[in-house]
Amino acid sequence: MTYLTNDKVAVMGAAGAVGSNLVQALLATGTANTIAMFDPFEEGLEGAAEEIYHCAFPDAHVTWTTDAAGALADAAYVLSSGGAPRREGMTREDLLRGNAEIAAQLGRDIKANAPDARLVVIVFNPADVTGLVTLVHSGLAPQRVTTLAALDSTRLQTRLAQHFGVPQHLVQGCRTYGGHGQEMALYKGATRVDGVPLNDIVNGSALANGVGLTAEDWQEIRQRVLGGGARIIELRGRSSFQSPAHLTAMMVRATCSAEEFDWPCGAYVTGTPYTHVMMAMPTTLGPEGVSWSLPEGDAAEQAELDAAYAHLQHMRDETIEMGLIPPVPEWESANPRLTS
Ligand SMILES: NC(=O)c1ccc[n+]([C@@H]2O[C@H](COP(=O)([O-])OP(=O)(O)OC[C@H]3O[C@@H](n4cnc5c(N)ncnc54)[C@H](O)[C@@H]3O)[C@@H](O)[C@H]2O)c1
Repeated sequence: MTYLTNDKVAVMGAAGAVGSNLVQALLATGTANTIAMFDPFEEGLEGAAEEIYHCAFPDAHVTWTTDAAGALADAAYVLSSGGAPRREGMTREDLLRGNAEIAAQLGRDIKANAPDARLVVIVFNPADVTGLVTLVHSGLAPQRVTTLAALDSTRLQTRLAQHFGVPQHLVQGCRTYGGHGQEMALYKGATRVDGVPLNDIVNGSALANGVGLTAEDWQEIRQRVLGGGARIIELRGRSSFQSPAHLTAMMVRATCSAEEFDWPCGAYVTGTPYTHVMMAMPTTLGPEGVSWSLPEGDAAEQAELDAAYAHLQHMRDETIEMGLIPPVPEWESANPRLTS
């Protein structure tokens, strides 16, 4: 079996549901074979590593350790779902303080042990903030740090496919931007259902697979997407782990091959009108890391993105008040690659 990369991948939080599935996804998809599993929960970590060994993946080089520095040493990829998950009734933002503290330490550990990392993917929530905190402390260039933000868009694709009764891959161009949290912006302009622009279906001038979409249907779909993560918790009694693990492995693939990752990623955004936040944007992911552009949408979509941005700024400022990252004007001295 060949793998796309033999470079070292550090999976942080590898005893957890997302992390252990991510190790498996990297191996099972032939993406990476040299994996260091880290988690402070030693028994769980050993158990997760044993399970991976029992899969008997050919040419796999998987180690496990409770020493973060050892796991990160010279890693080319750092993938972290190492933090508390959201429990029923909790928002992603409720997790803010504890997980932002973990992110600050992760950033410092990356700076000390993996200063040449090609890609860091932050999965643990609230990912927009934990990704930003990791970036500020890591010393890495902003295009090297991203977040898993695709799930809101894959949930939109799922729901539209269910509504129109078409195979999921025939729903294309699903895009949610801004916060990966309660505040996200759904951009319909690029969405096609079986080739038909979603905007035409929404305004009543077209059908897809003989099915239309009323304003009420669209509101219901929006609510299902906004509550997509909470619904998994309701159904399974725990937060999602298969889909985040798979999509994170796909992000690594895009970075070490010519494969496209056709979903929004989190990017460090500066300039006008949004600045000094990590947010989901139109992105491309490749060997140079993540690059982003501003989305184009109608006035309502832009207003949604403005609201999402305001929310992200608020969470960022809370993190500054907690002393977990310095005030914005001091970011460049914390990480000289964060030039405004
Ligand atoms: N971005 C997304 O779309 C998305 C989707 C699903 C889950 N998540 C988030 O991913 C995170 C992990 O979810 P899970 O279901 O795997 O949770 P889990 O509880 O199963 O696993 C979390 C693991 O992190 C470990 N951990 C604790 N402190 C750590 C530290 N300092 N460094 C490294 N690891 C540490 C724990 O020991 C545990 O094994 C949660 O924050 C969850 O909300 C994000």
